[in-house]
Amino acid sequence: MIDFRILHLQEVDSTNNYLKKYSKDNTVSEGTVILADYQKNGKGRGKNSWYSGADLNVTFSLLLRPELKTGRYFILTEFVSLAITDALKHFGIESLIKWPNDVYVGDFKIAGILIENTIVGSLITRCIVGIGINVNEEIFPAELSNPISMRSLKNKIFQKDEVIHVLLDKIRNRYNQLKKETIQTLHTEYNKNLFRRGKVSGYKHKDRIFKAELIEIDTTGVLKLKTTNGKSKQYLFGEVEMII
Ligand code: BTN
Repeated sequence: MIDFRILHLQEVDSTNNYLKKYSKDNTVSEGTVILADYQKNGKGRGKNSWYSGADLNVTFSLLLRPELKTGRYFILTEFVSLAITDALKHFGIESLIKWPNDVYVGDFKIAGILIENTIVGSLITRCIVGIGINVNEEIFPAELSNPISMRSLKNKIFQKDEVIHVLLDKIRNRYNQLKKETIQTLHTEYNKNLFRRGKVSGYKHKDRIFKAELIEIDTTGVLKLKTTNGKSKQYLFGEVEMII
């Protein structure tokens, strides 16, 4: 069972960067959480940044030392995404996972995950799980296309400490599941909770736009589509973009 130890910082560049440096020392244990009230340079996936107004939202990074075979890396994405949907459900918010690991309510993004792994030989020895949840933010920068927060959905201010407590609890449960049960259980649930699964959406691949049905995500994180003219297609993350 994972024990959490929270280091609470007022301000940091990015909790992922901080934890990456801090956990180079192998004695820093699994379950260490770097929590920040404000990130000056919050990172999103790829070249994106992560916007979060000071003191308003939940931004933290969690250290795992999973000793997981590299081929199973996608299970880390699956368990964390599910834990966030579990936590939101606790607060009466139904959400879905947009491949690979955005959390959506309707067509709006409420949370994002940035996972950074360290691999030694064939094992993932260190995993830094960065989570940003829009909790009490009301006004987002105009360049963000579709953000939403718990506050705007429920019309009330949430206690950040409570959200963190519930989320860590859900992470603990899902991580236990990862450690104890077969990979298939989490994988099946991930697919069940997938945004627009079984629906036809527009996708952009290089400069081409096409329509396809989202069939499933496989255990390695590959997106499987069926185009409207019946062709099966497979994409790695970054190769194709769903049009919202
Ligand atoms: C994304 O949706 O692109 C991923 C966003 C991840 C944001 C979190 S906030 C806490 C942690 N520290 C960072 O710099 N990024 C992650």
